[in-house]
Amino acid sequence: MSAAPLPRVMADGPLAPAVLDLLAGEVEFVPWTSEPADDYRDVAAVYTYGHPHVGGALLDRLPSVRVVSNYGVGVDHIDLAAAARRKIPVGNTPGILDGATADMGFALLLASARRIVEGDHYARSAEFTVYDPGYMLGREVHSSTLGIIGMGRIGAQVAKRACGFDMRVLYHNRRRRADVEAALGVEYASLEQLLAAADYVMLCCPMTDETRGIINATTLGLMKPTATLVNIARGPVVDTQALYEALVERKIAAAALDVTDPEPLPRDHPLLQLPNVTIAPHLGSATVETRRKMAELSVANLRAGLAGQPLPHEIRAGG
Ligand code: DGY
Repeated sequence: MSAAPLPRVMADGPLAPAVLDLLAGEVEFVPWTSEPADDYRDVAAVYTYGHPHVGGALLDRLPSVRVVSNYGVGVDHIDLAAAARRKIPVGNTPGILDGATADMGFALLLASARRIVEGDHYARSAEFTVYDPGYMLGREVHSSTLGIIGMGRIGAQVAKRACGFDMRVLYHNRRRRADVEAALGVEYASLEQLLAAADYVMLCCPMTDETRGIINATTLGLMKPTATLVNIARGPVVDTQALYEALVERKIAAAALDVTDPEPLPRDHPLLQLPNVTIAPHLGSATVETRRKMAELSVANLRAGLAGQPLPHEIRAGG
């Protein structure tokens, strides 16, 4: 008797070894295509590892798909409403990467404020021959004001870290977070109040129609000229051209970015030339431990969907 064929899963790769190991012998991965042909009609699941677009047109070409599983919490690349209309559950990985992502936000904030990247280059260079107490003065982090836009799980973890730095923490969110206010003493502010008062503005919100371009020429104009923008959310939350101009014209002092729009930026993009920009290649959740947990949860979602069972973490439109 020949063995039943393995369920076929369309995935954008190359996938992490942890994902491949967990699913070895259980599924057959087939390469990603944005225009699947007839030989993909039996594909049973979609696994998104990077951020390939999944919309109604793609799902219509994959009539056997029973689940979309995303390796990560942000699902702005997946049309949740289109999946729901086709009764396809979408899984993501919330609650396990908040600490790592908040650490990255703080790492960027500190690196920018204290000129760590610039200092590293200087310390390795031939120019560093004598210590000078007058060079590379940065900005104080402790006792300054942090404005957090988006007080979800990651925002709350950032606020917790800020308390350790004796920072005053303002936040702006769709809804008030009485629990975080009570636990950490953070203060709710309108977007305008937050931008006007903060020394550091950190973006921790999901990318939605509401947050796309929330940081633009107008809102950048409300920030202090000494302020730093930190983005650990998604690139399109910020208008890249407006940010570039604000940095060149010193309307704000600096930016520290884990994400950009587009991502990656073209290699000759002028933003990459600015000395007051610190930039990382989307490393928010990139720790060994967190990425392992993301692999496990995304695989658990995939398995449950293939078995027609409720996903451990299903994400729905508006949720
Ligand atoms: C996330 O979890 O959303 C990270 O950005 C990786 O996709």
